[in-house]
Amino acid sequence: MAKIVELKNVTKVYKTGEREFRALDGVDLGIEKGKFVVILGPSGAGKSTLLNLIGGMDIPTSGQVIVDGEDISKYNEDKLSRYRAATVGFIFQFYNILPTLTVLENVELVKDIVKNALDPHEALAKVGLTEQENKFPNQL
Ligand SMILES: Nc1ncnc2c1ncn2[C@@H]1O[C@H](COP(=O)(O)OP(=O)(O)OP(=O)(O)O)[C@@H](O)[C@H]1O
Ligand SMILES: [Mg+2]
Repeated sequence: MAKIVELKNVTKVYKTGEREFRALDGVDLGIEKGKFVVILGPSGAGKSTLLNLIGGMDIPTSGQVIVDGEDISKYNEDKLSRYRAATVGFIFQFYNILPTLTVLENVELVKDIVKNALDPHEALAKVGLTEQENKFPNQL
């Protein structure tokens, strides 16, 4: 089966001042097309770090992150932005919504970024949020 996501010897080292922290250390991973995969591990194991690399939110310190045959670890900021907009869907651990926009306005933003975006009203109806459309995030 073709691999849709492949990580080869990936490391991620965070530097804070003088200190270095190796969050990922030589990770190899292969995910086949069409598979539903769960990444499980204790807090601090590096799950978000790993997902940030696959999602194009961050780049590895070394190693390759290959998505659909393309090594995204070599992408510049511009290519990564386009990759995030067009190729991946990402649900953040700490949801990144804009507090000064309503629920509907937050969802409508997607139309500025992607082609063929879902209708915002339809998208909100699908998750049972129609009645909350005009509320602000802190009112939910
Ligand atoms: N930006 C950063 N700077 C420095 N250290 C970081 C940074 N991000 C994560 N870390 C450290 O890297 C390690 C892995 O963090 P990560 O957030 O990937 O863990 P996690 O498995 O997602 O944990 P949780 O289950 O709590 O979400 C942790 O020790 C964390 O403190
Ligand atoms: Mg996490």
